[in-house]
Amino acid sequence: MKTIASTSGLLHLLAVVAGGTSILPAAAESPKPTSWPHQFHSILFVTYSGSLSLVDFWYDWTSGHNFNIVQDQLKKLLYDLEWNNGTSFFYTLDSTKECRSAQLDVSILRPNWLDGTVYIGQENVYDFLCSVWQKVDFIWYYEDVITNRPVHRVFYTGK
Ligand SMILES: *[C@@H]1O[C@H](CO)[C@@H](O)[C@H](O)[C@H]1NC(C)=O
Repeated sequence: MKTIASTSGLLHLLAVVAGGTSILPAAAESPKPTSWPHQFHSILFVTYSGSLSLVDFWYDWTSGHNFNIVQDQLKKLLYDLEWNNGTSFFYTLDSTKECRSAQLDVSILRPNWLDGTVYIGQENVYDFLCSVWQKVDFIWYYEDVITNRPVHRVFYTGK
């Protein structure tokens, strides 16, 4: 996940709608996180260093891009189209019609980006019993135990 601002902090994302895709739960023992469907829509509440956003997130690995419609609290709507070659286009559709692009070192997340995570256990988050995985001290990923849908994730952006 790219971080536009360079300030430090934790990036929290909460998926409240994760499309209608149902995925069979993994067998017991040490559960594995569910791979992302190649295309889905989800709505995320994002907090980053104290700011709050509502993000309409369209993941489309098949077409090689992500589309984020970002509503920062009390700000104008920002459209963010991210391509799998690292190019992102940011624009607004208000009267000022601002736009800019950015070239990031990282591409969009692969559907199997959760491979290599370590299972930590179960935890209650926002009233959902979740399986929790951690990856290299910078991401914590929470998935509903019953439906396998993502509930919460935390990125530590360092610095
Ligand atoms: C990445 O792909 C997009 C969409 O095809 C294109 O507009 C953009 O110029 C590409 N960026 C680079 C660096 O090639």
